[in-house]
Amino acid sequence: MTDHSVIPVKPELAQGNRVDAARRAEMAERAARDPEGFWREEAGRIAWMTPPTRIKNTSFEGDVSIKWFEDGVLNASVSCLDQHLAERGDQVAIIWEGDDPNSDSKVTYRELHERVCRMANVLRSLGVKKGDRVTLYLPMIVEAAVAMLACARVGAVHSIVFGGFSPDSLSSRIQDCDSTLLITADQGRRGGRTVPLKTNADEALRSCPSVKNVIVVRNTGGGVPMEEGRDHWWHTLSEAAAADCEPEPMSAEDPLFILYTSGSTGKPKGVLHTTGGYMVWASFTHELVFDYRPGEIYWCTADVGWVTGHSYIVYGPLANGATTLMFEGVPNYPGVDRCWQVVDKHKVNIFYTAPTAIRALMREGEAPVKKWSRQSLRVLGSVGEPINPEAWLWYYRVVGDERCPIVDTWWQTETGGILISPLPGAVDLKPGSATLPLPGVQPALVDGEGQLLEGAADGNLVILDSWPGQMRTVYKDHERFIQTYFSTFPGKYFSGDGARRDADGYYWITGRVDDVLNVSGHRMGTAEIESALVAHPKVAEAAVVGMPHELKGQGIYAYVTLTSGEEPSEALRKELVAWVRKEIGPIASPDAIQWAPGLPKTRSGKIMRRILRKIAANETDSLGDISTLADPTVVEELIGNRVG
Ligand code: WTA
Repeated sequence: MTDHSVIPVKPELAQGNRVDAARRAEMAERAARDPEGFWREEAGRIAWMTPPTRIKNTSFEGDVSIKWFEDGVLNASVSCLDQHLAERGDQVAIIWEGDDPNSDSKVTYRELHERVCRMANVLRSLGVKKGDRVTLYLPMIVEAAVAMLACARVGAVHSIVFGGFSPDSLSSRIQDCDSTLLITADQGRRGGRTVPLKTNADEALRSCPSVKNVIVVRNTGGGVPMEEGRDHWWHTLSEAAAADCEPEPMSAEDPLFILYTSGSTGKPKGVLHTTGGYMVWASFTHELVFDYRPGEIYWCTADVGWVTGHSYIVYGPLANGATTLMFEGVPNYPGVDRCWQVVDKHKVNIFYTAPTAIRALMREGEAPVKKWSRQSLRVLGSVGEPINPEAWLWYYRVVGDERCPIVDTWWQTETGGILISPLPGAVDLKPGSATLPLPGVQPALVDGEGQLLEGAADGNLVILDSWPGQMRTVYKDHERFIQTYFSTFPGKYFSGDGARRDADGYYWITGRVDDVLNVSGHRMGTAEIESALVAHPKVAEAAVVGMPHELKGQGIYAYVTLTSGEEPSEALRKELVAWVRKEIGPIASPDAIQWAPGLPKTRSGKIMRRILRKIAANETDSLGDISTLADPTVVEELIGNRVG
């Protein structure tokens, strides 16, 4: 399956690159030898009110404390907006492309600055102060970026909840961080359908007493009830607000945002990122990895509800004065050629998407791609899950006409930005490999006992030392931060991913080694789906595992034990799928539900997921040792009733 062929840097295409192989090596060497000096210089890429003198103060031991640029003072919105006004105030900052191909708009840096200032004033007038949490539940519209930057401007900590999440998921995320204000829209649009955001928000807010005010963007114009005293129209408030706003001075280690992400146990964790290090990392990686050049049009297809949207639609590109394209829709609406149509329409130079989208488009053949010229494309990126060599090669040959380097970027919500990726024009490519760490990043592989592995090896992917964009803590739960990331292999950051390193030192990410699923590039904890299932009155017990899925990468396979007296039926299966969608959101819909009168458990009652994964993957000839099970006969029964 693995394709070892190397695609060397094409010198003619690398012309004008900021970083070539020699420069990359130089940067990596300097960052390793003199991290203080290296990062002091890189910090200069963003705007400081007081430049930092203390650069790195981090420890992965004991209580785990991570501080970068700690005596620096700045405001992220100034780096993204004010700093560009003199030089490129009239340059387009955001190109917005609607779900409907006939709707688009452009916002210059000057206009964006004004809109952010107005909204920042609105937030202040509603009592939002530095450190307060504001939840955003928005579609992919310009107001989402405005709202993020407005929070940053007043020092509020934003927590974005993906618009595809259910009211329950929204309310638990609001409750966890006690937001005082919610920003949402009447409705969203995706693939020709509307998403009832305000209705969902109203339902969520019934159990969120901390929220005193709701700001509602009139987006589709679909009528929604407004609660007197609590709900306010964005446009009314915004029009009445002043167009300039003093930015709040923030210490580098003041929080910028919280973003909830799934882990192997319990509820989603509030990943906390702070201001200085995150901004430096977002800017540094966006420029290096995409070889961003002034004037270029850059398009990342992610949603701002995920970390990719935070770092590579908003903060990184805007810090670098780029023109960033924000797309409201989906890759296959109204046709499967939508991406390439948009590329031609806006002359996109850099395109960054997920393997799941590439696989889905690949299935439609070359014709929809070839219909458009794609001449503007220069660099192609991939993120979110391992990209199989077949999809990689299709992306390279068909979409990029063998002209555009592919940057397969490995990173996580926790890492704030890209850690392992080729740099275009500087690193030879291997289809399916995220290749080499960025300068300043020290990945390593360890075995199950935490022993460092040398040379070509297969193991658990850890990072040995801190980088500026690293998450600082789990919101209000530092103990969980230490437990989750630094206890498995003490003194090292454990990513939760497995990886292989080949003889050239290239990393091949093999996927999660914990109970986290990656479904179409979306992270999901099996525990979350299980607790949604057992919340159904007819379900006694549930175990969820991932199964290989051609398009999604991983699908969701659920084993369900019904309460006594309940009979399995097709109607009940559908009911449970709908139930999970309602509890968590459509992205968590199980692909398969197998009725399981019994689950394979050890004598101490622990479910042996290894066996359940094998059955779901239809690899039943390699189940391994099942003699430790309390009742080995359940395995035969499960194999016999496998679904799919
Ligand atoms: C997976 C998304 C292989 C990985 C930015 C990681 C990848 C999880 C890649 C984080 C890649 C992300 N190759 N796997 N290029 N990029 N992953 O937090 O399992 O939503 O741990 O961040 O996605 O997902 P998250």
